[in-house]
Amino acid sequence: MENNLIQLSQQDQVLVLRINRVDKKNALTAAMYEALTAALDQAIEDADVRAVVITGDERCFTAGNDIVDFMANPLVDTNSPVMRFLRALSTFPKPLVAAVNGVAVGIGTTLLLHCDLVYAGEGTRFSLPFVDLGLVAEGASSLLLPRLVGQRKAAELLLLAEPFDAATAAQMGLVNRVLPPAEVEPFALAQAQKLAAKAPSALQLTKALMQRPLEDAIADAIAVEAYHFAAQLRSPEAQEALQAFIEKRKPRFS
Ligand code: COA
Repeated sequence: MENNLIQLSQQDQVLVLRINRVDKKNALTAAMYEALTAALDQAIEDADVRAVVITGDERCFTAGNDIVDFMANPLVDTNSPVMRFLRALSTFPKPLVAAVNGVAVGIGTTLLLHCDLVYAGEGTRFSLPFVDLGLVAEGASSLLLPRLVGQRKAAELLLLAEPFDAATAAQMGLVNRVLPPAEVEPFALAQAQKLAAKAPSALQLTKALMQRPLEDAIADAIAVEAYHFAAQLRSPEAQEALQAFIEKRKPRFS
């Protein structure tokens, strides 16, 4: 069952969402986005869930969207699994904590912009290789990254697509704290449990107040980015870049 690739477990009042496809570096398929979205939707309804942790394992968080899946099921409309996941994530009303190790590529980095607290292991590599794949920024990263790190730094990350390490991510404010890899998940869980023990209405209202100023802008950015992303995905340059990844060679852009 593909949905075993997203494992759900509950620790007290914290729901843990684990991406579990390590042989493919936790690359996310349409079915995995669907499972994540369903889990987030259910977590909203479940009063026993007061906080959510999203994680992978000690070797990888996620290598981003599955490239084979990208080619087979190009994102075409606003109702596609990745779009529904991005909307669910960006509007999620309960505290969301990420525990990140290994690689965090593409959506593996952009989804962190929607988490409340992010903890990363020493040695984690982050990257936003959209342009190198003939694609564009997604997940409202074209809006949120320049706000977080400034226009100049965002250009290095989104245009030059330069990978960066955990220390840089912490310095930029993308990550709260860098820890030894084995300590990341226990620490993230402990932080989530602290949140889960707090007054739930006050906590959720405070999160909602923090989300409110950018609510419309984020929804708009996700939609506009997706429009261009879908068009680029069908372009010869993206098809060449994705095919090159599958064939384990460098792309040739003419
Ligand atoms: N989609 C599909 N398969 C992926 C994948 C992805 N995004 N990322 C990794 N894999 C697969 C590899 O094809 C390989 O499969 P194989 O064993 O059947 O050949 C396996 O996962 C292991 O990956 P590998 O590249 O050998 O690991 P690595 O440690 O050398 O490199 C990465 C790790 C993440 C740097 C590298 O896999 C990579 O660049 N992946 C693509 C990331 C990407 O561009 N994502 C899309 C962002 S929009």
